[in-house]
Amino acid sequence: MKIFVDTANLEELRAAAAWGIVDGVTTNPSLIAKEGNPIEEQIAKICEIVDGDISAEVVAIEAKAMIEEGRKLAAIHPNVVVKLPLTRDGIQATSVLSKEDIRVNVTLCFTANQAMLAAKAGAYIISPFVGRLDDLGMTGMELIEEIVTIYDNYGYPTQVLAASLRSPLHVKEAALIGSHIGTMPFKVVDSLFNHPLTDSGLERFLKDYEKVFAAQKAG
Ligand code: G3P
Repeated sequence: MKIFVDTANLEELRAAAAWGIVDGVTTNPSLIAKEGNPIEEQIAKICEIVDGDISAEVVAIEAKAMIEEGRKLAAIHPNVVVKLPLTRDGIQATSVLSKEDIRVNVTLCFTANQAMLAAKAGAYIISPFVGRLDDLGMTGMELIEEIVTIYDNYGYPTQVLAASLRSPLHVKEAALIGSHIGTMPFKVVDSLFNHPLTDSGLERFLKDYEKVFAAQKAG
């Protein structure tokens, strides 16, 4: 599964990119606003740090304006993927931009039927939100399973991006289901490294080594 980082923060992206395991970045208007720079500027900086798909979301809500904004965002860098919301206007704009070979990530997807519409419109990526469904007492991961099945049934090339992943368990479940991509905040990427037996095992290896070789040196 490709790992995308769900952040517009440059420090977090530099740290994650240094590990060599980051395949892309997703942003949204809330994440861009948090950093305080105009979107064009922030996305250009992100493209310098991570070599992979970088999603940049439009804020327009009418198809015509979405298309214009999408074209501008796509012109920032060849790695930019234009992010559009799953509304009637968003799907219309997806159809137009996809035909121009502009790659579109359709976001705010909460049903399998919505995901089918995005695939039919030519979306490059569909972003179903797992955590936000969990927040409502539903099992968000079931949506990922449904979409992966439907896309497989019909050979839709649209990639499934499990979004709103909030824990290492979410990440594992999305990967087991066969989601193509998982996007998660930096702290979730960081948490994927952790296991207490890794820490205690390393401590013991180093102590055993030190016992023999420090004693030899001293002798
Ligand atoms: O980028 C969209 C999505 O991943 C948001 O996650 O945790 O705000 O529901 P969250």
